[in-house]
Amino acid sequence: MYSPERRLLGISTVFWLVRSSPFWVLPILTANVIEIVSAPAVHPIRSLWWNAAWGTVFIGQHLVTHSWHYHTLSRAVRRVEARLRLAVCRQLHLLSISYHKHAHGGALQAKVMQDVENIGLTLRELYSNGLYALCTVLITLAVVACRVPVFVPILLLATPAAAGLHHCLRERLGEAIHRYRRASETLSIHLRGMLDMIPVTRAHAVEEDELARAERHVRKVEEAGLLLDRQYGGGNAAAWVVFAEFGLLGLVLTAWLSYRRILPLTPGDVVLIGGYFAVLTNVLAGFLNMLSVAARGLESLQSLDEVLACSDLEVHGGKTRLLEVRGAFLFQNVFFTYPGQRTCRPALTDFSLRVDPGEKVGIVGASGAGKSTLLGLLLGFHVPTHGCFQLDGTDLRTVDLTSFRRQIAVVSQETLLFAGTVRENILHGIRDVSEAQLLAAMRDANAAEFIARLPQGLDTFLGERGAMLSGGERQRLAIARALIRSPRVLILDEATSALDVESEALVQEALNRLMLGRTTFIVAHRLSSLRRAEKIVVLKAGQLVELGSLTDLLSRPDGEFSRLQAHVFECVDRFRTTSPPHPLGSHQWPMDQQEIAADMHL
Ligand SMILES: Nc1ncnc2c1ncn2[C@@H]1O[C@H](COP(=O)(O)OP(=O)(O)OP(=O)(O)O)[C@@H](O)[C@H]1O
Ligand SMILES: [Mg+2]
Repeated sequence: MYSPERRLLGISTVFWLVRSSPFWVLPILTANVIEIVSAPAVHPIRSLWWNAAWGTVFIGQHLVTHSWHYHTLSRAVRRVEARLRLAVCRQLHLLSISYHKHAHGGALQAKVMQDVENIGLTLRELYSNGLYALCTVLITLAVVACRVPVFVPILLLATPAAAGLHHCLRERLGEAIHRYRRASETLSIHLRGMLDMIPVTRAHAVEEDELARAERHVRKVEEAGLLLDRQYGGGNAAAWVVFAEFGLLGLVLTAWLSYRRILPLTPGDVVLIGGYFAVLTNVLAGFLNMLSVAARGLESLQSLDEVLACSDLEVHGGKTRLLEVRGAFLFQNVFFTYPGQRTCRPALTDFSLRVDPGEKVGIVGASGAGKSTLLGLLLGFHVPTHGCFQLDGTDLRTVDLTSFRRQIAVVSQETLLFAGTVRENILHGIRDVSEAQLLAAMRDANAAEFIARLPQGLDTFLGERGAMLSGGERQRLAIARALIRSPRVLILDEATSALDVESEALVQEALNRLMLGRTTFIVAHRLSSLRRAEKIVVLKAGQLVELGSLTDLLSRPDGEFSRLQAHVFECVDRFRTTSPPHPLGSHQWPMDQQEIAADMHL
């Protein structure tokens, strides 16, 4: 990720070296000034002005070189951050649907935002403390080796001291950082759920319970944060004390050697060594600080690695690209079990079905019967555990699924819209569409009228998940989205269930037009949606128990389909006897209400 930024980072390092030069030069200039003051007879006053002039130049250049360094470094870091974020987003699009079913959106969001930020911060710290420490140690050693070589071994002692201290702190700090990240991720997950649930929470007036739950997670982050800060604080203090003592020891030792005349040290030498020891002290303490930040950066890298190195990917490369899908499907003894499924029976058992191009297939069954699982297999979200599933005579495992999915449209009960304009939501990745085609799709989906009423029509910005539209309006947008794709295969997952009776009739008409000549799978709870189906698959506990046209199925009184229907009428009876009186005063609910209820529950 960083290698494309080598040039920028190199330039930034040069600016950084120049910008940091005063820290290393000033002790030398101070020592020179002390020498001049302590022996005026030997040094002319001119030397003092020269030292002052050099000091001014070294300090003054910092103003320019620091901002250049900062600017180039920032550019490199921000680019790497953007690249990392995009890499994670790309990976999220490649990861399998089952990965996403188990992953938590909040945690993934935290990775893309927080963890990438931490990694950028680590690079910045690496400059401000790591590189500084390294250069300072080298320059100090060089200067001391030139002026008082005997002190080099004493200075070198600082390195093992820093390494020992770091070793003591590392493990405990690493553990604290890991705990803090987990607690933050859990809070993000909870927050996301809490935000989604706000209307339900408000409707049930259970804000206090939700707050109590939120508080538990917030407190866990607080505790983990406190523990982390304690480790940081303790580590910083220990580092500072060790190195400050070390610096003091250096100063006193130099002064004592000079005082006793053991070594021929001038006052300037004492100041120089004392000054460098002090700089070294701060630098090494800062370096240990940087290691803490780096530990956090490493933890964030590990966190991103959980996504970037995950192998649960949909692989498309090298597979057969389908340029033209006819829409023939063949399931042969297909079994499917979800990874980690709790029940012992597969979600789909020994399922065999042949669907010809252009055929309309209804899928019905009680809740948990396996309808959504079957749709998942159709879309290639799941791969059969056993058995074979072919599309146009090709095993779906060998097909580049992206080429296949471009020729599918899905209209589901839960319409997913993103924060964008109405136009963007309808087009959703489809280009080269004329305005006339777009308007025709809107008209056919019975959406033109309500879109025209929106403040900016097609260019109205929809809130997150299309919050400003009604359920029925959202659904009609989804139908327009399907129409514009002109797909070969259509999947209607309870597509008309959110519509009122009137608009359902209009949309059904639009869907009927859309279904013409296209292989269509219809998961429906309403009889009216199944009328067009040439074949109806009745699922029960993952097994195909009945297959036939609507008339066939209705003519079998002992069949599963009839049993499902009888169950519905039973529910309607219960509904009629237990429901409150009709609000308009009649003693019974009107017949169409019952019919709708019956239809809804089929
Ligand atoms: N991600 C999953 N992991 C484990 N088991 C799952 C998963 N999704 C579904 N199942 C199980 O698979 C079975 C079939 O579920 P499926 O979602 O296909 O039912 P369905 O017919 O669509 O039901 P509904 O009408 O309620 O939507 C159920 O027993 C369910 O518990
Ligand atoms: Mg389902």
